[in-house]
Amino acid sequence: MTTREELARELTSARERTLRLVELDDAELLRQYDPLMSPLVWDLAHIGWQEEMWLLRGNDPRRPGLLEPAVERLYDAFEHSRASRVNLPLLPPTDARSFVRTVRDKSLDALEALPADDGSGAFVFGLVVSHENQHDETMLQALSIRTGPPILGRGAPLPPGRPGVAGTSVLVPGGPFVLGVTAAEEPMSLDNERDAHVVDVASFRIGRVPVTNGEWREFVDDGGYREPRWWSDAGWAHRQQAELTAPKFWSVEAGTRTRFGYVEDVPADEPVQHVTFFEAEAYAAWAGARLPTEEEWEKACAWDPERGARRRFPWGATEPSAALVNMGGEALRPAPVGAYPAGASAYGAEQMLGDVWEWTTSSLRPWPGFTPMLYEQYSSPFFEGSGAGDYRVLRGGAWSVASNIVRPSFRNWDHPIRRQIFSGVRLAWDA
Ligand SMILES: [Fe+2]
Repeated sequence: MTTREELARELTSARERTLRLVELDDAELLRQYDPLMSPLVWDLAHIGWQEEMWLLRGNDPRRPGLLEPAVERLYDAFEHSRASRVNLPLLPPTDARSFVRTVRDKSLDALEALPADDGSGAFVFGLVVSHENQHDETMLQALSIRTGPPILGRGAPLPPGRPGVAGTSVLVPGGPFVLGVTAAEEPMSLDNERDAHVVDVASFRIGRVPVTNGEWREFVDDGGYREPRWWSDAGWAHRQQAELTAPKFWSVEAGTRTRFGYVEDVPADEPVQHVTFFEAEAYAAWAGARLPTEEEWEKACAWDPERGARRRFPWGATEPSAALVNMGGEALRPAPVGAYPAGASAYGAEQMLGDVWEWTTSSLRPWPGFTPMLYEQYSSPFFEGSGAGDYRVLRGGAWSVASNIVRPSFRNWDHPIRRQIFSGVRLAWDA
């Protein structure tokens, strides 16, 4: 079980990160950078509201909270679309800051009072840590879509890449493996990661590393965005309607991209990011490949065929560190391919965690025995067949994600047309 000390540390590091991201003047926090994103001040107060609801009010909205009922309803993500939040009478930044601080003080008191053997109580704290970190990533998406002169630094340094790995692949022989995790092995895993169950997949090859900007540029130069034959019908319709001609933030003519307001040469050896599922699918078809299913992805990431068991991380049991993976949000960009040979999975796939979220062909489905967690709306409204629309699963986390909330079993999902997210591509082939 995660100890109280660990949870306190994780709460604190998530909060430090949140506060760094909102170290901006009030006008900036109230701005809406794009209809796809909330004003940053909404995320800030929403983090506090959700924490109060789960930890301090026992998830019972009838129990009074610190905010007036009419005010707290502004922070219910299911009541107000992102596009509409800028027009709500949101708490001013000063009030939002003091609200989240008050809630956090009470949460830390509650943590101190938590019995050391209360696993389900500890899970709620883990959920709060995960939720806050996920919103920190959402705020990074908002900041990346923001126009105007940069307000963040250029990002922390990253290790160099290795030549010769882009475009190569590794073999994952067919056979059964264990998909998903148990609550016993991963107490902080979320509902859709559970339960562990045996799945058989046929042999396949998977990219050793994600597709790079340099490779993507060849697709652009080869007319990939002008050739319907590489695209699905829905993908082509979207490409035309949205007038996609390159990854978001690229200027093809200049060979540059805009990253958090900085205009810079597109680095050829960095994983491509900000592409839709439809673009990923078209690229794969052009390259004579396909996208992996999420089952294939997880096997290539976590299965250790010699031991016949899962690894906790692709490289083994060691906790994630800057020598193994690019996560945590400080780099503000993916690392070049080949930067983390020590982070390779048992099959030799590298950079499975961190750098870019990787599109898979899979819709979000419950694993057998799925049981919703305390945050009941987290997964099930998005399951295939729930009527909520088309979603595709992304795997592996990105540079923007905290390393303590993402595991090989972690599942993310989004509409196939989205690309303000830090999404990239890893190819697969039948073998
Ligand atoms: Fe949320």
